[in-house]
Amino acid sequence: MKLNIAVLPGDGIGPEITQQSVKVLKAVADRFDHEFQFDDALVGAAAIDLLENPLPEATLDLCHKSDAVLFGAIGHPKYDNNPDAKVRPEQGLLKLRKELGLFANIRPVRTYEKLLDQSPLKRERIAGADMVIYRELTGGIYFGEKSTAQDGKSAQDLCFYSEEEIDRIAHLAFKAAQQRRNKLTLVDKANVLETSRLWRKTVKTIAKEYPDVELDFLFVDNAAMQMILNPTQFDVILTENMFGDILSDEASVIGGSIGLLASASVGNKNAMFEPIHGSYPQATGKGIANPVASILSAAMLLDHFDLTEEANAVRKAVEVSIQLNVCTQDINKDNHYTTEKVGDFLEGLIAEIDNININ
Ligand code: IPM
Ligand code: MN
Repeated sequence: MKLNIAVLPGDGIGPEITQQSVKVLKAVADRFDHEFQFDDALVGAAAIDLLENPLPEATLDLCHKSDAVLFGAIGHPKYDNNPDAKVRPEQGLLKLRKELGLFANIRPVRTYEKLLDQSPLKRERIAGADMVIYRELTGGIYFGEKSTAQDGKSAQDLCFYSEEEIDRIAHLAFKAAQQRRNKLTLVDKANVLETSRLWRKTVKTIAKEYPDVELDFLFVDNAAMQMILNPTQFDVILTENMFGDILSDEASVIGGSIGLLASASVGNKNAMFEPIHGSYPQATGKGIANPVASILSAAMLLDHFDLTEEANAVRKAVEVSIQLNVCTQDINKDNHYTTEKVGDFLEGLIAEIDNININ
């Protein structure tokens, strides 16, 4: 298969982790006889520094015409600490999601036997946890009208959802549940918010088309608690944009490190693959960032094009590296490997993946 992949490394640790997934994708192309073409483009603080624009036209054009986008990370402390900044790196990512129509962000969360004791949560609570969060990505409070009063003493962000926006992601989430354990949990705040009541009503109606899927509802505050108390109860979680952002960071604690959590952002035409973590500025250039979230996002890219064997090869390589403790310091404190060494190891495994057995 021939694929044109736009690579947007972004800020902080973005470039160093993305380099590892490109390396792994190249190894996949070699091993399985594909032709992947990679083109880099600027986004985020890196783009503001050079062009005063977090999402330059050339970057957006490249993404539009590519088959997929591999995204690194975004954000820089100089903006985080400056509430008055007019142009912010994050605007680049948000605009990109909106312009590409990436309405569904899919974030799988699982545990690895070897890492069960990595989590601050008790082993017996998290063992077997395996869920996927369907986070709505182009609506809600992130994209509603925003304003700050002239005197700077008040501000507002509007949360808006239409039935259509709920509909399209809900269908994807129900279909995912059918491929998994047939359970869907809608997380909302329907006891308080109008938008949440619209979510409940719309999702209940759609549920009739999926009678084999068991649907239940949780308020987001309770869901946050349940995620920690009893994460194995979840199969597919469907939720709006901001609740999904918050819950997925929380869920990463179950797997042992946020450096393991991948995501796919899909729409009707384009698709983008990005780790759920941020730009981790304190780690930039130190070789300590975990590239696995980005590499597993690359596996989701392969899945997206039905390259299942290839995606499984990448996931198997990751499992082997974890088994053998070839991990960055977030996971392996005593004898850790650098970002690049983990990438090299996974790259090497892909070539001989058929000869490797995991037990
Ligand atoms: C994420 C990130 C982004 C978000 C930020 C960087 C805008 O936290 O992808 O989860 O809030 O969506
Ligand atoms: Mn987030």
